[in-house]
Amino acid sequence: MPDAGYFSSDPALSDAEFAQFRQFIYQAAGIDLPSSKRALVQSRLAKRLRHLRLDSYTDYWRLLNEQASGAERQRAINLLSTNETYFFREPQHFDWLRREALARSDQNRRTIRVWSAACSTGEEPYSIAMVLAEALGVDGNWQLFASDINTRVTAFARRAVYPVERARKTPPLLWQKYFLRGRDEYEGMVRVAPELARRVSFSNLNLLHCQAFPQDNFDIVFLRNVLIYFNEETKQGVLSSLCGKLRRGGSLLIGHSESIRNLSLPLRQEEPSRYRLEAEHAGGRG
Ligand SMILES: C[S@@+](CC[C@H](N)C(=O)[O-])C[C@H]1O[C@@H](n2cnc3c(N)ncnc32)[C@H](O)[C@@H]1O
Repeated sequence: MPDAGYFSSDPALSDAEFAQFRQFIYQAAGIDLPSSKRALVQSRLAKRLRHLRLDSYTDYWRLLNEQASGAERQRAINLLSTNETYFFREPQHFDWLRREALARSDQNRRTIRVWSAACSTGEEPYSIAMVLAEALGVDGNWQLFASDINTRVTAFARRAVYPVERARKTPPLLWQKYFLRGRDEYEGMVRVAPELARRVSFSNLNLLHCQAFPQDNFDIVFLRNVLIYFNEETKQGVLSSLCGKLRRGGSLLIGHSESIRNLSLPLRQEEPSRYRLEAEHAGGRG
């Protein structure tokens, strides 16, 4: 018996159409889609075609290129970027963060600056915020910036409301302190405590234009589970600029399944997915 996919009413994405959208997302976001992602691209764009009552991906391509405002291009970026995330993903990083925050605040009393540079729907920066609040106080001496290319996910993140399943990996003590449980129409949802949520500053940033981010002198940058979408050349460009955003001795965290081994960067590996900027290359103050 053929599965339901055989009866899809979505138009088929031709080779030539797939090549166009593949080139588009590569140029716009650095996302290098393999041929195996063709069905995914088709199903994600099909939703937009239905909404716009368009009959073909070629019609959609035309619309994308005609619109002067760029709003449809942003919608296509939102559709074609993958945003999977959850609270306390890769928990070793958060154990390290707690130790690092405590050590840094003992050494000098200055503000600790952290950036979640591909923050998706906000679970990563809010997890960071919980750890910093525990270590240094909710109103402590820390600043947290979070950015993503996708405008839909940052709007979601600002609401700070999540289905309970996305928070499953949150340590119980932090859960009790920093989540409010939803009732009535919010049954099955949690909300990040407003006094914590307001400490995260969200914005939209394309990592291909990292240097345009108005903040720098970071002590710690989380750049996790986004490099997997980039080829070596893109990774080299993004990370070279990003190193200029780190303070002397600053740390970079990448995803456990990501590799930057073959790149030429002023970083020293301390753990498989944690690096430190070598002192002489620091972009900002020490
Ligand atoms: C899989 S999520 C990772 C979220 C989180 N860092 C984590 O590890 O759970 C990847 C995120 O990278 C974002 N992204 C992809 N290309 C980007 C680019 N060029 N600039 C900024 N963000 C990008 C996507 O929109 C998506 O939200």
